[in-house]
Amino acid sequence: MASKKIRVPAEKSKNTWSGRFNEPVSELVQRYTASVGFDWRLADYDIRGSLAHARMLEATGIIDADDLTAIELGLSQIREEIHSGDFVWRLELEDVHLNIERRLTVLIGDAGKRLHTARSRNDQVATDVRLYLRDAIDNLINLIHAMQLALLDLAEKNLDTVMPGFTHLQVAQPVVFGHHLMAYFEMLKRDVERLSDCRKRVNKLPLGAAALAGTSYPVNREAVARELGFDGVCENSLDAVSDRDFVIEFCAAAALIMTHLSRLSEELILWMSPSFGFIDLADRFCTGSSIMPQKKNPDVPELVRGKTGRVNGHLVALLTLMKAQPLAYNKDNQEDKEPMFDTVDTLTDTLRIYADMLTGIRVNQDAMRAAAMHGYATATDLADYLTKKGMPFREAHEAVAQAVRFAEKNNRDLSALSLPELQQFSSLIADDIFAVLTLEGSISSRNHIGGTAPAQVNAAIGRAREWLSSSSNPAIR
Ligand code: ARG
Repeated sequence: MASKKIRVPAEKSKNTWSGRFNEPVSELVQRYTASVGFDWRLADYDIRGSLAHARMLEATGIIDADDLTAIELGLSQIREEIHSGDFVWRLELEDVHLNIERRLTVLIGDAGKRLHTARSRNDQVATDVRLYLRDAIDNLINLIHAMQLALLDLAEKNLDTVMPGFTHLQVAQPVVFGHHLMAYFEMLKRDVERLSDCRKRVNKLPLGAAALAGTSYPVNREAVARELGFDGVCENSLDAVSDRDFVIEFCAAAALIMTHLSRLSEELILWMSPSFGFIDLADRFCTGSSIMPQKKNPDVPELVRGKTGRVNGHLVALLTLMKAQPLAYNKDNQEDKEPMFDTVDTLTDTLRIYADMLTGIRVNQDAMRAAAMHGYATATDLADYLTKKGMPFREAHEAVAQAVRFAEKNNRDLSALSLPELQQFSSLIADDIFAVLTLEGSISSRNHIGGTAPAQVNAAIGRAREWLSSSSNPAIR
């Protein structure tokens, strides 16, 4: 959270609203209530919102054309000052909104003071946050797409790479590694859908709600909405300035994304442990130990797992922030920004690093195959074979359990038993059993949509690529 926070020096000067107060706030209170140290990040959105508001004020005759020209020139100079680092942020001006407004007034005089007509910081900040979040969502969707592409490329290279599929982390049935990877593609696809859906509710304009009740000026909210690319206006002024459910919803979607990435991270960590030895991560994602020279630690996936806690925490923080607020705006809402920014920053970095990390994975096919050979991964196939020959499944289950015990005692895989040995457990077993008991036989028999047969995984990858190219088009989202 600290990275994009700035230290703003406090100066003794009057607050914008201090007309009705007898004494100034203490420096501590000033620091405690100010948000400019973090909400300066909304500056570009604040300026965009102000420009749209000013144009509407001019179009409806609330301000004149000269005022508008001055406001446009002033705001564009302020934007440059902020980008070049010359803008002086002042703590006693509390937040990004008042800092920009004061500078505008210094630059252009009375026209600057007219900008805030028919507006309040309450509808202004809600607008800024929505504009920021809309951009953040679009950027995150692009980053998820990039990671999905990396998953697809890795899956495609591993259509025939056999590995054990697990339940309870015990060897269950063989699958191909490409199928395993495609499970994460599906999770991320739902994550994109969630973000796109959340975006619809983010993309509504609060401006016009003013402080809480609307404004007595003849504003044209639809025109402002159009100029800022909103899909419509928030239809109740009290709701528009007070609820932050759209940030909460975003953080919930973000928490799920991190949860998915955390699961994958857990697997990468396990697979990289020498006891598994399934994969190796490129050195640039790992670190060594200062004491044990042999170590190569998967720091990046471990940190993804760790940072999931912090993103989940932000979700809970925002739910708690909102839960006891009476209508309409309360200053509590100023606390929405740091969790939101940190969620976006953490997710952005995590997704960027993940797409790169996936392309650098080295797969040890032999180790995966050897692990699938341990643990009688084709036992279910033997039971299915008997069932297809007429034995009731529960009876087949029992016969196979006996066969596994026998194989275990003899320290051999089921496929290594001879036909007479297998026939001890059922006379239904014939020599067509050996095609069934191999890893490839088991895998290729699961040949339906959603199954692990390489042909099905290949088809799934094809569908995924199609989805990706249509979903990358914002018009279709
Ligand atoms: N910095 C404030 C926030 O983030 C802006 C709105 C202030 N409104 C007010 N009535 N004090 O919420």
